[in-house]
Amino acid sequence: MNWKDALSQIDFQQHTRLRFQEPLAKHTHFGIGGEATAYIEVSTIDDLAILAQFHREWKVPVAVIGKGSNLLVSDKGFNGLCIRLIGELANLDVDGTIVTVGAGQSLPGLSKLMSKNGLSGVEFALGIPGSVGGALIMNAGAWGSSFGDVVTDVTVMQDTGELLTLTHDEAQFEYRHSGLEAYFCVITATLKLQPGDVDEITSKMNTLFKQKIETQPFVEENAGCMFKNPPDDSAGRLIDISGLKGHRIGGAEVSTIHGNFILNLDNATANDVLDLVAYIQKHVKEKTGISLQTEVKRLGFG
Ligand code: EPU
Repeated sequence: MNWKDALSQIDFQQHTRLRFQEPLAKHTHFGIGGEATAYIEVSTIDDLAILAQFHREWKVPVAVIGKGSNLLVSDKGFNGLCIRLIGELANLDVDGTIVTVGAGQSLPGLSKLMSKNGLSGVEFALGIPGSVGGALIMNAGAWGSSFGDVVTDVTVMQDTGELLTLTHDEAQFEYRHSGLEAYFCVITATLKLQPGDVDEITSKMNTLFKQKIETQPFVEENAGCMFKNPPDDSAGRLIDISGLKGHRIGGAEVSTIHGNFILNLDNATANDVLDLVAYIQKHVKEKTGISLQTEVKRLGFG
């Protein structure tokens, strides 16, 4: 029996949905990429534990794709199993100023719900269209805040299917990086937020969102900032002074609003994007001496 047949014979819970040959372009904000051999929306921890064991037993590559907001999928797709977390894996529980949130919850959803609860600390997250799990792994951030700053501990699943709770320090949050990628899947985070006034928190959240839409593209398909910022500088600024805004390869173009965004303007392929990334890296290096490193995750490039 091959792994696809074995997977299709597993008796998952009612709300877990499994599909084969799923186009990944529609699950990414870039709108780019081929098919995943298998794609599953997992609704319970028990089903996720079954998949962890399946992954070990069959040695099938697995990728948890969150909201696909920081992801470039290869034109050939992904020969493995893509997982998205839904249902109880996206739950949210508020107990005073302590919030437990599932990795499948969206960051904008979390930000809005916290403002309604009069809890401050995640106002910056309204403009980041990712999942909590992705934000933990990437230590997503904006406007001087990073998600890891409000996290007290994180529960992850190991590839045995067992759960493990890590402290803030054990999660090893750094700039756009953490130690959490080493585990099979991030499950929940516990956040410590600050009590505050609903109107003030909402106003701060909306101000930061306005700042985002004034300085970053948000209509065209993109995967957020393409490059990490070098120490004490902005990759967008370096791309800008290198004269690369508006540069286009195939259907991919450097945003004219913010240099660190690559837009899928006209059915761009993943190769168009990677060619543009290489072009930017070469020209920024020549102009400024700085080597830009990509921030966007890649899937299916082998
Ligand atoms: N700038 C330019 N030209 C550009 C872009 C920026 O001159 O094309 C200048 C701006 O005028 C400003 C400076 O560079 O003086 C910094 O720009 P900005 O405030 O936009 O911040 P950034 O460093 O370019 C970072 C994060 C963003 C986050 C913003 C806002 C990274 C790689 N980028 O961008 O995060 O939204 O700050 O806080 O850390 C992301 O990680 O995906 C992302 C978009």
